[in-house]
Order: sequence, then C-alpha cells, then structure tokens
Amino acid sequence: MSDLSGAGSTLAFLVAFDRSGGFPFSHLGGFFIEFTPVYFSQDAGFLTGAFEAAQGEIERFVFFYFYTGHRVCSSCLFRSPRFNQTFMSGVPCCKGRETLPETTQNTSRNGARAGAGRNYCCTIPQMRILGIETSCDETGIAIYDSQLGLLANQLHSQARLHEAYGGVVPELASRDHVRRITPLLSAAMDEAGLEPGAVDGVAYTAGPGLIGALLVGAGFGRSLAYAWDVPAVAVHHMEAHLLAVNLEEERPEYPFLALLVSGGHTQLLEIRAAGDYTLLGESLDDAAGEAFDKTAKLLGLGYPGGPRLSALAEHGRAGKYSFPRPMTDRPGLDFSFSGLKTAVALAVKELEDGDEQARADVAHAFVDAVVDSLLIKCARAMKQTGINRLVASGGVSANKQLRERLAGMAAETGGRVFYPRPEFCTDNGAMIAYTGYVKISAGENQPLAFAAYPRWPIS
Ligand code: KG4
Ligand code: ZN
Repeated sequence: MSDLSGAGSTLAFLVAFDRSGGFPFSHLGGFFIEFTPVYFSQDAGFLTGAFEAAQGEIERFVFFYFYTGHRVCSSCLFRSPRFNQTFMSGVPCCKGRETLPETTQNTSRNGARAGAGRNYCCTIPQMRILGIETSCDETGIAIYDSQLGLLANQLHSQARLHEAYGGVVPELASRDHVRRITPLLSAAMDEAGLEPGAVDGVAYTAGPGLIGALLVGAGFGRSLAYAWDVPAVAVHHMEAHLLAVNLEEERPEYPFLALLVSGGHTQLLEIRAAGDYTLLGESLDDAAGEAFDKTAKLLGLGYPGGPRLSALAEHGRAGKYSFPRPMTDRPGLDFSFSGLKTAVALAVKELEDGDEQARADVAHAFVDAVVDSLLIKCARAMKQTGINRLVASGGVSANKQLRERLAGMAAETGGRVFYPRPEFCTDNGAMIAYTGYVKISAGENQPLAFAAYPRWPIS
C-alpha cells in the first residue's frame, strides 16, 4: 500500500483522541491500533486482534490529546496552511478571510485543480469525497466526485462470516471491519486513480449501528481526514439511505415522502428540504428487515435471510396462508412486525417435513403481509400530506415484490416512486460519500474528536 497518510513518513500516524470521547483509534500507513481508555472498560478488547496484529510494525506513535473548546473554528480548522501552528498554539481563527494558496490546492488525475483560488470557508464547486460505511456487516468505501459522479465503489460483505451463527455477531463484525478497511481504501483509491492529495473530504457513518463496527469506520475516517488535512463529517446511516436516491438519474423534487426500510429501522418521513426531515411513523417493535431475517430463519433459510426469503416467496401460491397486517386497522402511521413473525412461527410448526411448496406458500404470504403493511401506511401518508412523491430506500427496498407493488400504487394514484438501484438500497460506501458531499459542500465538518452513536434519531 502506498503512503496513504500523505504526511511524508510512511509510519507517521495519528490518534484522534478527545477528552470526552473515550475511544482513540489510529491509522498507521496500513496498520490499525486501538487504545482503549480505562473508563471504556466494559467494552475493552473488542478490537483486541488489531492491536496484536500491529504492534510488531510500529515505528513511531504520535498522540494528540485534543481538548474541546479550543479557539479555532471548526470551519477554518481544516485545510489551513497554518493548521498545525494555528491549532497547537491556539492562534485565533481566521474567520473565513484566508484563501488557499495555489500550492495547497488539490490536483486531479488529469491535472485539473479542484477549488482553485477558493476561500476554504466557502462552498466548494468541485469535490471528491471519500465515504466509509461500517455500521453493521458491510465494509464499504467509495469516492464521489460532485462533477463526475462515483469514481470508486468498493464493498466487502461479511455475510459468509456470520452465516454459521445465523445472524450478525457484533464482535466478529468489528474485527472484520478492521481487517478489511485498509485494503478496501487502497482498492478504492486505485479504482478512482487518485492520489491521497486529490480527496477533498472524508465522510464516515457515525450511527445508528453496532458500536464497535461504527467506531472502526469513525476512527479510521476521522484519522484519515486529519492525516490528509481535509474536512471530515459524521454521517447518519439512515439519512445516507435516504439520499442514496440522488446517485440515480431520477431524483425527486422536494417535498417528498420517504419509506426507509432496513434491518434496524422502518420509518416513514416527510422530507421538505435537505436536512428538514419529519418522522411520520416508525416500527414500534421489529424492523421490516428484521422480520424478514427472523422469518427466514424459521423457514431454515439461514443468513442473510431477506433476499432468500424473497426468492422463495416467488415460488409460493397466493391465498394459501393469510397473516395479519398489524396496526393497519387503526389510525396513524406506525408499524408493527413482531406479531407477524409469531403467526408465521405457528404456521411453520404445522409444516410437514420436505413440503417445499408449503414453505414457499408461507414465504409468499409473509412477504404479502409485510408489503401490504408498508403500502397501506405509504398510501395513508400520501393522503395525509398531499405529497405524492415517495422515495423507498434501505435494504428491504431492494425487494422485488415491494418495488412492484409500490410502482402499481403510484400508477393508480398518479404519484411517483423513486428508488436507488438495488446495490445502493443495501449498505454501501457510495451513499455515505454522497451524503458527505452534501454536508461538506454546505460547510459542515467535525472537530477532531469523534464519536459513534448506536442510536441516533434522524429527525
Ligand atoms: O440497509 P441494510 O443493508 O442494512 C441495515 O441498515 O440494516 O438492510 C439490511 C436488511 C436485512 O434485514 C436484509 O434481510 C434486508 O435488508 N434485505 C431484504 C432484501 N435485501 C436485503 N429484504 C427483503 N428482500 C430483499 N431483496
Ligand atoms: Zn443500512
């Protein structure tokens, strides 16, 4: 791997370490180290393998112990030619008056300069943002160029790692992110044909998700941004699912409704503008994806369950089983899927061994019930708000039956449904890179301290 630190020394690296943050994580020219403070004791060791793997190679450690409340504004902190001096000595913020000198501007593969002559506190016309996704069982790294679109999209799925356990094992997920993230970064940079200096910012998923898995991407992303001297932004995973639709040609105009259906969330939102999100309804128990996974397990389909259950359902016959559509007979836009799982469990108990057709019939009835529940609430939300544009995103929106039924509903009501392509419905780095672009171009960036949020409301 090339010297991704871009700092001149292959073994110089950094630990972004915040007094209140509690979890320092480092990037070392291809190696990762964890340093777990005492007060993080209950989770200490969840990345133990990383430290052991790296210790033989360490030549030098550079620790930064960052105090919050320093005098440099977060907008001006990055890209400043006086960054180190400013930060270390606490010289007052430039308050947006400085302009990047020619020598510090980025140069692309074809020699074009990004953001030439711009003031670094202002909106940047062309940007390349690296996005890092590690919230659950996919390691994703992508690079989005605001003018050229996606330059790279690398993904590693941990499906095979977790299959033997019938679901995601958080500890294994964290460790595998550690193993994969650096090679994936190299692969993404190679795919895009970019040198480190050509990336204008780093975005990482900061939540919601598995804490250990999130910390890998957050620590890596924040440290990388520091080493590259570019801004970093913490991205909300569900907001990224929502904005993934903007990676497509067909994008909705504001306002629109969004149905976000993933393994951990089922939410209906009203989107009035970028960042202006109102939660209209959500699942009170299991998420739709969770119901898919649990039902797939009951039917012996293993992990990952959703796509397998969906495929089995295609062989099922309509009308052989009927499962409840919880919460559709009362007002409101919330969902519930745990009762449905119980009804399926009872039906599965009655199945005779080897009756494949009956299993497919159960799968068909289950998918029908989930899709009906989602559709009823979408139609209700459209009526209630008068908005007839709907975005469907998140892993379950890759489901063929759901897409067909939503398209049918839109055709009937004169509305329109927009989706990301299936590989951008499930977890990926591209949606993080794109969301990072939206945030960084709006002037957002994170201080050097970073955090991860297992729970994090989107609105
Ligand atoms: O968005 P996602 O990739 O990860 C989370 O943010 O949770 O969603 C994963 C969920 C899993 O529950 C998976 O079973 C489900 O999406 N899923 C599907 C399909 N593809 C993925 N469910 C039904 N049909 C599919 N084709
Ligand atoms: Zn997701």
